[in-house]
Amino acid sequence: MSSLTRVVVLLSGRGSNLQSLCRNAHAYQVVGVASNVPEAVGLEVARSFDVPTLALPRAGFATVHEQKAAIFAALERWEPDLLVLAGYMQIVPRAVIEQWWGKMLNIHPSLLPELPGLDTHARAIAEGKRWHGCSVHLVDAGIDTGPVIAQARVAVQRSDTPATLAARVLTREHKLYPWVVNAWSRGAISVDARRIQYSDEARIEAQALDFIIPTDHAPSSV
Ligand code: GRF
Repeated sequence: MSSLTRVVVLLSGRGSNLQSLCRNAHAYQVVGVASNVPEAVGLEVARSFDVPTLALPRAGFATVHEQKAAIFAALERWEPDLLVLAGYMQIVPRAVIEQWWGKMLNIHPSLLPELPGLDTHARAIAEGKRWHGCSVHLVDAGIDTGPVIAQARVAVQRSDTPATLAARVLTREHKLYPWVVNAWSRGAISVDARRIQYSDEARIEAQALDFIIPTDHAPSSV
């Protein structure tokens, strides 16, 4: 049997997705957590799972570009197979995107391509959306524009505030992200150019878990 996929998580904040990724790691292991924010609570979450961390703050570098380049160079020490962004609040340098194309994922709190960017929960309410949710996508050079791998929907209630809606979306994030990373690690989700391919097993699992995966192309196998 092949060894576990080596996952490095990047984060800037509280790390609730990291926690769920660590708790639900079956086909992968989280081998390191990197941050641009030394005081990020997510680094404490990593330590609680005995996962090594590194944090390189902006203050240590002449430019933000140097800081970002240093973070992505430093995480190579963990020999990752997959980079998983989980609340990482910096734009990834283009050279890194090219190096990691197809092997760098992000989770975004909206049903992309709707509501890229910040404040998605407040915007979903303000725009009168009936449905909101979260998306796991490949990272490309745009802001939240990479090909979507899978999504989870949440119905917007009339009584919702941005905080109540965010909380419901977050519970779905915590299911969706580990499912995608496990499936990617097993080879049940794969990337061919900008096309995502799914095994029949992955499609069946997604349906059972009420996740949405793109249906604009046929299943990968007969
Ligand atoms: C999540 O809402 C995620 O969708 C977004 O940043 C937030 C990270 O939350 N990209 P946490 O740090 O995982 O709790």
